[in-house]
Amino acid sequence: MKVLVTGGAGFIGSALIKLWLREDPRVSVVNLDKLTYAGDLRRLESLKNNPRHQFIQGDICSAEVVEKAMEGCTHVVHLAAETHVDRSLLDGKAFFDTNLYGTYQLLDAACRKRVKRLVFVSTDEVYGSRERGFFKEGDALNPSSPYSVSKAAGDLLTRSYVHTHGLDAVVTRGANTFGSHQYPEKVIPLFVSRALSDQPLPLYGDGGQVRNWIHVEDHCRGILRVFEKGKKGEAYNISSPHYLKNLDLTRRILKILGKSESLIQKVKDRAGHDRRYALNSDKLQKLGWKTRSSFDQALEETVRWYQNNESWWRAITDRSEHFKNYYEKAYAGKQ
Ligand SMILES: NC(=O)c1ccc[n+]([C@@H]2O[C@H](COP(=O)([O-])OP(=O)(O)OC[C@H]3O[C@@H](n4cnc5c(N)ncnc54)[C@H](O)[C@@H]3O)[C@@H](O)[C@H]2O)c1
Repeated sequence: MKVLVTGGAGFIGSALIKLWLREDPRVSVVNLDKLTYAGDLRRLESLKNNPRHQFIQGDICSAEVVEKAMEGCTHVVHLAAETHVDRSLLDGKAFFDTNLYGTYQLLDAACRKRVKRLVFVSTDEVYGSRERGFFKEGDALNPSSPYSVSKAAGDLLTRSYVHTHGLDAVVTRGANTFGSHQYPEKVIPLFVSRALSDQPLPLYGDGGQVRNWIHVEDHCRGILRVFEKGKKGEAYNISSPHYLKNLDLTRRILKILGKSESLIQKVKDRAGHDRRYALNSDKLQKLGWKTRSSFDQALEETVRWYQNNESWWRAITDRSEHFKNYYEKAYAGKQ
């Protein structure tokens, strides 16, 4: 089985490839990634000499690049995306280019090449926010940021190809994911790295927004289960039992690091910030998947990973002009 994985130099894509190659000797991977600011080959160091992993740097928006990368591939798992909500508020163009037009290129090529199955990795954010209860897969999509709209568009487009072209495609909608090697603009590595530098942690609004947290390995196992057992044309939620207010998450991070809560600096809320994401993942559990990790242990291990691998994230936070410019822009005027 030769699988084209897009976005495989990213946080989840790299974890998925490493897990898959480790656990299934039948699989080889072609990894297509543009290496945007979020892509990082350091995540793939352990695969350097692995003959079952081939890396191609390229843009999924190019029909030519996609056509070439898909040559000889039997399956596709599509993770490549612009993924940061805050950036989508500053400039949405790349989100619609990659998350919609890039997805269209992949779907179209997958039809021409008659691939056996394509997985579109979507997000819980496509449902929007709800105060109570849990979203099920049949619920209406009601995204509320340019990021989540662009993902919802890719999600809908994928399912349209099942109906109109007979493509065997499935969709996963995963919750907020955490683990090692995540780009330090996302809340957990951002707060850990700032706390370790004794810098204030910019917490949006009152910190009362509720998120469902899933460890990256559990998320990847969910994607693989849907790849293997999901029904053509269906979507599957991937969530965990762990719901937490952002303020409580921040306090836990500080406690693990032995740092004072005085580092918390409440800043002006993100525009249109969704209050609560909540998913029901019974449908995926019926396929034999469940979360394996204990949240407390996984969070502690994740925080310790950043603590023990300072050079990894400092190469970004301290040396990348791109990161520094983004951070200034994103939090400007919010203090
Ligand atoms: N991180 C989460 O909490 C989360 C939760 C649910 C779903 N998701 C989805 O999972 C997927 C992976 O997320 P992540 O957190 O690993 O993101 P990430 O930002 O860490 O990685 C995205 C990768 O896509 C690549 N990429 C971007 N544009 C590209 C293009 N035009 N062509 C080729 N490659 C391109 C980047 O270089 C990067 O390596 C995304 O589709 C995201 O929407 C993420």
